[in-house]
Amino acid sequence: MNDKRFYITTPIYYPSGKLHIGHAYCTVATDAMARYKRLCGYDVMFLTGTDEHGQKIEDKAKEAGVTPQAFVDNIVAAPGGVLDLWKLMNISYDRFIRTTDEYHVAAIQKIFKQMYDNGDIYKGSYKGKYCKPCESFWTESQLVDGKCPDCGREVMDAEEEAYFFRASKYADRVRDLLLNTDFLEPKSRVHEMVNNFIDCEGGLQDLCVSRTSFTWGVPVDFDPGHVVYVWLDALFNYMTALGYQNDKYNDLEKFWPADAHFVGKEIVRFHAIYWPAFLMSMGLPLPKKLYGHGWLNFNGDKMSKSKGNVVDPHLLSQRYGVDALRFFLLRSFPFGSDGNFTNELLIQTINNDLANDLGNLVSRTTAMAEKYFGGVLPEEKWAEGRDGELTDMVKGLRARYEAQMEKFQFQNALEEIFKVIQRANKYIDENAPWVLAREMEANGARLAAVLYNLLEAVRVCAVLLTPFMPESCGKIFAQIGADQSVQDWDSAARWGVLPAGVSVSKGETLFPRIDLDKELAELERIQEEAQKAALPELEVEPFLEEPVDFDTFCKSDFRAVKVKACENVKKSAKLLKFTLDDGSGTDRQILSGIAMYYKPEELVGKTLVAIVNLPPRKMMGQESQGMLISAVHTEKGEERLHLLMVDDAIPAGAKLC
Ligand code: ME8
Repeated sequence: MNDKRFYITTPIYYPSGKLHIGHAYCTVATDAMARYKRLCGYDVMFLTGTDEHGQKIEDKAKEAGVTPQAFVDNIVAAPGGVLDLWKLMNISYDRFIRTTDEYHVAAIQKIFKQMYDNGDIYKGSYKGKYCKPCESFWTESQLVDGKCPDCGREVMDAEEEAYFFRASKYADRVRDLLLNTDFLEPKSRVHEMVNNFIDCEGGLQDLCVSRTSFTWGVPVDFDPGHVVYVWLDALFNYMTALGYQNDKYNDLEKFWPADAHFVGKEIVRFHAIYWPAFLMSMGLPLPKKLYGHGWLNFNGDKMSKSKGNVVDPHLLSQRYGVDALRFFLLRSFPFGSDGNFTNELLIQTINNDLANDLGNLVSRTTAMAEKYFGGVLPEEKWAEGRDGELTDMVKGLRARYEAQMEKFQFQNALEEIFKVIQRANKYIDENAPWVLAREMEANGARLAAVLYNLLEAVRVCAVLLTPFMPESCGKIFAQIGADQSVQDWDSAARWGVLPAGVSVSKGETLFPRIDLDKELAELERIQEEAQKAALPELEVEPFLEEPVDFDTFCKSDFRAVKVKACENVKKSAKLLKFTLDDGSGTDRQILSGIAMYYKPEELVGKTLVAIVNLPPRKMMGQESQGMLISAVHTEKGEERLHLLMVDDAIPAGAKLC
């Protein structure tokens, strides 16, 4: 068996809506890691997929008027869905699991039964709080201000007969795993887990692992009416996808235990505590590493569909290219911490790193090789003595990069590469090839050496950048004439392996410079439009909970009033002044803040409704004797108002009751 095997996973995503840049972040990181390990010669298994059960999906499907299966199929497999997104983003997964796949469902039933038989799952009754969007149970003491501690949303009371997993039994072993091994990283997440969930008041609680209040889940086959809790179902995907408890695959021996699970920080809890406890209960080896990455915020705010501020990876890849987006995600934010996504940072990163540094280096080098030597450098290529600083830097790059990649520090690994790229650009300026080219006879050999050194620097950087930008690096190799044999891991640590006589050609511009101001304005316009589109079609004011007694209500005097005159109030953008016939024989004056909805002349002659026994009050120095009644609602985020108008048959002064 190849002992250079590597198994890495992303979380499996909830197909409850379109995936956004936050989801792409983790998947791109996992992809870069998988590609890096393949480059190093590992036999890699890269698993991703979708987590398709649970109440949230059942509710969404109901809302959409389709079956849950049709609902998830549409998000996963339809054009523009999850599978399409990963294709677009060039995600090189080896296997894709859907938790509705039959083999997985059957395996989960067996696992549940085995845990029941070994006494780790028992029947009880659940009473507590439940956060539907997070599919998480909470005890009263875990809530923050009465809300879900993960997402801050309202929780609901939940009480039902349920099965429980004896997590408490594994508390000591899980604590030991977290505190005394390198299982969970970054280390900063370890104490939060231990303090909040194991060494908290009451200790590690047993976990409710079945539900009866909905049906969209893996049925507990020995107790109809129960479905398996979605997290138990979901976590075991990492093993069923290798063939655990099923015959569909046969890779368990080769790839389990996993080398790395990459997950977002809010789901570290499930992976750091319950996942090891489940595995302990089943007597299975534990994964070697769990890495909890940070969140991407947008303009300092949490991305959320309801706020309409989710960033769409389709849009960005279309505008800047997939590689630029992949690169930006891993170059700009340290993987373990939160990052703040802004359009400005995205465009500046593309301009500075890709267009100015990398793009410029490649295009200057290839253009000069073409211009001065017709694309083929003569044999004189060694110039070690005089160019030690650059060549030494390149020679040591692979080791420095590897050290960072092994710690999942993508940003630092890229930083090492970009130091070399910047040094190489400086080397061009120092050696001024255009000056050397003026006297080819005397300086031709030196010029060839300088260009050769640059090609080698570009080659090594391109090998190491391949996991991040596979397509662009392919183009770079083509431009510098590097074939497969000098694109591998081994050759990345060797200097001078690009054969003499390769044919260099300046190709298309790899990363065009973007006009920052113009592009920012355009992006803002597109994102605002998308934000608007995400807003609900219609919102009405919440209903008042507090009842009003009948006698109090009857004290309000509503009358039909006919508009005799209407005009704008001077110096007020909002107020209209109405002169009204209220049937009393004396004109009534009412001021109303509706000037942005009506022109005064449209209202003259109309019969409206007013409450006439409010105490008079002054607005902009004028008295208002009552209030006109209107209907208000919000449409796509915009407030709408309509004055209540009544039939002409209703005379001014008629009482409404
Ligand atoms: O949690 N920035 O699925 P999910 C960074 N089905 N990462 C983000 C993010 C953001 N703004 N928004 C989401 C689930 N993510 C479960 C997983 S695994 C057995 C089951 C990350 O679709 C999030 O942190 O809600 C999580 O790791 C992943 O996207 C999937 O989130």
